[in-house]
Amino acid sequence: MKTAPDRVHPLWDEFCRHLNSVSSLVELSDLKDKYLGRKRGLISLELRKLGALSPQERPAAGHELNELKKRVEKLLSQRTGEFKEKERLRKLEMEGIDVTLPGYAFAPSAIHPLRRVWKEMEEIFVRMGFAVVSGPEVESDYYNFEALNIPKGHPARDDQDTLYLSENLVLRTHTSPVQIRTMENQKPPIRIIVPGRVYRRDAVDATHTPMFHQIEGLLVDEGISLADLKGTLEVFFKVLFSPDTRVRLRPSYFPFVEPGAELDISCIFCAGGGCRVCKKSGWIEILGAGMVHPRILERVGYDPEKYTGFAWGMGIDRIALLKYQVNDLRLFFENDVRFLRQF
Ligand code: DAH
Repeated sequence: MKTAPDRVHPLWDEFCRHLNSVSSLVELSDLKDKYLGRKRGLISLELRKLGALSPQERPAAGHELNELKKRVEKLLSQRTGEFKEKERLRKLEMEGIDVTLPGYAFAPSAIHPLRRVWKEMEEIFVRMGFAVVSGPEVESDYYNFEALNIPKGHPARDDQDTLYLSENLVLRTHTSPVQIRTMENQKPPIRIIVPGRVYRRDAVDATHTPMFHQIEGLLVDEGISLADLKGTLEVFFKVLFSPDTRVRLRPSYFPFVEPGAELDISCIFCAGGGCRVCKKSGWIEILGAGMVHPRILERVGYDPEKYTGFAWGMGIDRIALLKYQVNDLRLFFENDVRFLRQF
C-alpha cells in the first residue's frame, strides 16, 4: 500500500507557530491540550474524521495523522524538558548563597574585671607554690566561727553581719573556714590559697555589696615566722602592682591568729607621697593576716611546738577597685555592658 511519508499535515505548521510563542510550562500544557486533548484536541478530532474516509484514502491519511501526532508529542516533551531545566536553574540561582554579603556582627565579649584580677592574683600565688582549693559557700556555724576561735557572743558573729540560713547554717562570711577544713584533712606542710565568694548582711553602697570575693592564704610548716608572711605578701604585691610597692604590718586582732596584723601597701597612686586615695597617709590598708593561733593548730591535730604557720584574707573586689581605678563597687555587679566593655 502506498503511503506518503513526506507529506506533512497542515496542522504541523500551525502547531510549530504556536509552540514558538509559548513561554511557560502552563502555556505548554494548554498547547498540549489544544492538540492532543482526548475530546477536543485538534489531532484527536482529525483522527476521529478518518472513519468517514473511503477505505482507499484511509491508510495514507491515518499514517499522516499518526506521524503528525508522534512529532507533536516529541516536540512537546522536548520543550517541557527545556522549560523544566530553565525553571531548575532559576530556582538554584534564587536559593544561592551570596558569599560576598557581610556577615552578622557579634559583639565581642570580655572577661569580667573581677574575674580578671581573681585569675591574676591566683596565678601569682600558684607560681609561688600555693595550691588553689575551694570550700562550701553554705557553711556550718562550727567552721565559719567556732573552729576559728569565734565563740557565741563574739562581735564578729553579730546578727548584723551574718546571713543565717538556719540556727547552725550560714552563708560563709569569709574564706577562713577552708583553713580548718584543709588542715583537718592534710598533714603539714600546707600551702594553699582559697579564692571564693563570701556573704555579709551589708547595706549596698559604693564600697559594700552583700556578696563579695576573698582570697584566703594559709601556709603551715616547721619554722615559719612573721617574716615569711611579710616576705610572701611583699613579693605578691610587687608582682601585682609594681616592683616599687612596699608593705608594712600593723598590729591588729583576729581571733584565729596570734599575733594578728593588718597589712598596708604603699599607695599605688602617689607612691607614698600622699594623695586623695590614701587620704594623705601614703599607705593603703589591704588585708588582715597573722600567725595561725596555736589553739587552732592543736584543734586540727597539729603539734604547735613543731609547726607554725601564717594566714591572710584579702578582698578581691577591693583590689580590683584599686587596680582599675573604679570608685564604685556596684559597677562590678550591675553588668552594664558599657562599663564591662572597657576591660
Ligand atoms: N577572715 C577575715 C575577714 O574576713 C580576714 C582574715 C584576717 C583572714 C586575718 C585571715 C587572717 O586568714 O589571718 O575579715
